[in-house]
Amino acid sequence: MKTVFIVGSGIMGSGIAQLCSQAGYEVRLMDNDQKMLGKAFKKIEWSLNKLEEKSLLKENAGDILTRIKIENTFENASDTDIVIEAAFENLKTKHDIFKELEHVCRPDAILGTNTSSIPITEIASILKNPQRFVGIHFFNPVHKMKLVEIIKGFATSDDTAQKTKEFVFSIGKEPVMVNCDSAGFIVNRINGMAFLEALQLLEKGVASVEDIDKAIRLGLGNPMGPFELMDLVGLDVVLNARMGIYNETRQPNHFPPGILKNMVKAGCLGRKTGKGFYEYK
Ligand code: 3HC
Repeated sequence: MKTVFIVGSGIMGSGIAQLCSQAGYEVRLMDNDQKMLGKAFKKIEWSLNKLEEKSLLKENAGDILTRIKIENTFENASDTDIVIEAAFENLKTKHDIFKELEHVCRPDAILGTNTSSIPITEIASILKNPQRFVGIHFFNPVHKMKLVEIIKGFATSDDTAQKTKEFVFSIGKEPVMVNCDSAGFIVNRINGMAFLEALQLLEKGVASVEDIDKAIRLGLGNPMGPFELMDLVGLDVVLNARMGIYNETRQPNHFPPGILKNMVKAGCLGRKTGKGFYEYK
């Protein structure tokens, strides 16, 4: 594999683009929002310079950056080896994207999604060839977190899963295989329950945001408490993931508490909006 086509230039898309170019891939980062693309490119440049200052790059930052091209259309996905979609968590948006990509991409290209909340099988349902479709789920911040979950949808072939695994190793990450399409996969399924419990303790007034975070940091040795982590990931992303799991399982213990929904409605999404459980400058 030589080229990667990434759809969506938000936090995850831009992080994945940077990672792939650092690993030597030719990267095309596509978004229909020109402003977002500009911001993403600047952020990647900043990050590469920062890593260069700390001697953490194998090449100079400028050379890595030249391997990233920005795109407004799907046209140049025609010669890509693998696509990673990191657009909004909306099934129709993803269906529209993959309908176009299936038409443009080579028949042997892998089509991957970084979704954290929508079943892989459901996204693949509109494809003529769902065997080449796979979940490839990265963690935030992409440059730091070692794990990538590879999720097999109902029709994903063993060959697609194996090639995706090799790709993940090639970009310096550690894969785990999720053998069937289960909502929340592994990490969000387990960690999401910790988020819900933390929110419930807060709603009941058992402890403050700061003390719950401190307890988890110091008591369990986690780098962040649940509220710090929700602010990092984005409360909208957390809510989407919770709703995805609830919709699939229909188990009431997965239903997101009111405080989370209200904060999302109020635009308090965490670090990206400057306000979540904490305030950010
Ligand atoms: N590129 C390069 N450098 C960067 C950078 C970037 N993108 N972002 C920050 N840095 C730099 C900072 O500027 C700082 O540099 P300095 O020391 O020269 O000032 C340095 O890196 C350290 O930055 P931080 O202080 O922010 O880093 P920490 O060492 O405190 O670690 C952390 C931060 C990695 C986020 C750590 O707290 C951690 O591991 N937290 C847990 C994260 C986690 O659990 N993620 C998974 C979330 S779940 C998920 O993503 C799934 C999804 O589906 C919801």
